[in-house]
Amino acid sequence: LKFFENRGHKIIPSSSLIPENDPSVLFTTAGMQQFKNYYTDSKKAIKDFGDLNVTTVQKCIRTGDIDEVGDNTHLTFFEMLGNFSFGGYSRRKAIEYAHDFIVKELCLEISYVTFFKGNENVQKDEESEKIWKEIGIEDIREEGEDVFWGPTGDSGPCGPTTEIYCKNSDGQDVEIWNIVFNEYFCNGSREKLNKGEATLKKLDILGIDTGMGLERLVTVVQKKKNIYETDLFNNEITKDERIVADHIKAALFIISEGVTPSNTGRGYVLRRLI
Ligand code: GLY
Repeated sequence: LKFFENRGHKIIPSSSLIPENDPSVLFTTAGMQQFKNYYTDSKKAIKDFGDLNVTTVQKCIRTGDIDEVGDNTHLTFFEMLGNFSFGGYSRRKAIEYAHDFIVKELCLEISYVTFFKGNENVQKDEESEKIWKEIGIEDIREEGEDVFWGPTGDSGPCGPTTEIYCKNSDGQDVEIWNIVFNEYFCNGSREKLNKGEATLKKLDILGIDTGMGLERLVTVVQKKKNIYETDLFNNEITKDERIVADHIKAALFIISEGVTPSNTGRGYVLRRLI
């Protein structure tokens, strides 16, 4: 937060795990969720924050990855570190900030980065590729739909992303951060977009939406093999115990928002986690 505050970002608190501005999603899954409307209305950011650039540590619930929980990197509850801009800075600046934070501030080595190879609707992200090359990153990989991010819920901002990977203590690559360039508004869900049932409209401003998983970052910084060996969990535990630890943590955070177990919606997710 201090790194980005010192670079002209306003610190904003985490929003609730229950999104206030988007009835189409059950839980906050990303740092950008509370800012969804600002990508299409930057004047509102000035009015609400006095700034176009903000930074947060956001609590998130992501059950889409629940089957991966217990491996080295996935959780249903995690904290997402992010910097966001609603027309306040360029692609280059966003990539330089991320590079400087990882390489100069944390003294980590970047293993490789990715960029979007394009599709019938969206151009190849040559600009990101060029910027990473100029910065001196050698391993730059072109990837497909995995590196086009969003929208969350029924509609919203979305765009190509560039991901940053670092190695854990076992030499495995861990995606620790992604920078989404919210250049488009999608009038349907991601599922509809994939099926050709939704369309993309170019936004007037370049939106920046970054997401760096605290638990993964700590794994790399503390030179551990997985998130459970960090001081956020602090234990050598079996795979089953990892799943229990994750689900208890997620359930507690959901209960702290006033949700109770039930057979529908959020309550159903909570019941299944328990
Ligand atoms: N920054 C997009 C994400 O939440 O992964």
